Amino acid sequence: MSRGKLSIISCEAGKYFADSIAEALKKLRPEQEFRLVETKEETFANGEIKIVIEKSIRGNDVYIVQCMENPHNPKSINDRLMAMFSAVDAARRAGAAYVNLIVPCYPYARQEKKKSREPITASLIANLLEHLSLNSIITLDVHADAITGFFRTSDFINLFAADHILDYFKNHYSNYLSELVVVSPDTGGVPRARFYARKLNAGLAMMNKERDYSAVNVVDKVTLIGDVSGKNVLIVDDIVDTGGTMINVIDELKKQGAKEIIVACTFPLMNGDCINHFHEFYKNQQIKAVIGTDSVYHNKKFFELYPWYKEVNIAPLFAKIINTINLRMPISDIVSKR
Ligand code: R5P
Repeated sequence: MSRGKLSIISCEAGKYFADSIAEALKKLRPEQEFRLVETKEETFANGEIKIVIEKSIRGNDVYIVQCMENPHNPKSINDRLMAMFSAVDAARRAGAAYVNLIVPCYPYARQEKKKSREPITASLIANLLEHLSLNSIITLDVHADAITGFFRTSDFINLFAADHILDYFKNHYSNYLSELVVVSPDTGGVPRARFYARKLNAGLAMMNKERDYSAVNVVDKVTLIGDVSGKNVLIVDDIVDTGGTMINVIDELKKQGAKEIIVACTFPLMNGDCINHFHEFYKNQQIKAVIGTDSVYHNKKFFELYPWYKEVNIAPLFAKIINTINLRMPISDIVSKR
């Protein structure tokens, strides 16, 4: 028994990912059993956003796709957030039986705790989403486990990109598997790095990262805990934003005698000067590649300019969970990783 007709809709910035999910779904079930429903995202002169769903979705099991991090879409993350809220509201008001949100990069995930007079915005977002009575929120490698606990009524489903990234790494860089050390760029990332190290039968090392909290995105100092001398290194992180963390880590690993370095991350945001830094590293043979997932959009030109950037298609993982939920089957095999 299924939850009924399966419809996928998307906000503007999530459209490419919704298309990719639909492609992957075709391999799991006949095309006539699901559909991509067109939406229109309109922006008023004062900046207000409206989403219009172009076809009836009454009684459907609806999955709304929005990608928060899309460097090639001119709208801000806050515009995308508002578009996401309005798409959910539109789906509810259009009589969808189940409304589920696909948001690979959970917005404001790095604000899940506070130091002094600060907000806990990751929790604020959760509260807002819960008010929309979503059946489920499906995300990827959520930055902080605490976020899971911010949801009390909607089902919060966190998928892991690791298996897909590991497959890519093993298929394309098998010659680095011997004498490999997996490095976590900070203490928070150690469980992730440990998982990779176990799967690759590799050593494990970590960085002690000290941030300058008087400013955003500033890394003060990194110190290596472990040994990488003469070894190939795979650095794994969830987010590469300004690249401040990675740049410091790569510099330090080279000083400590690392051989080839490959970076893997789930969300390759690569804002500001990050791309130029990586490009320099690549030209100077300090890194071999940066592996990211298509949960963050990069266009054709980007791939042409930066051959060191390698993309893992993560949409099939979302197609799998959508298919499984729609068929009311257990999802434990898909989510219980790490
Ligand atoms: C931090 O805890 C995260 O896992 C990333 O290391 C961090 O967000 C990366 O940011 P940036 O690239 O700006 O250093």
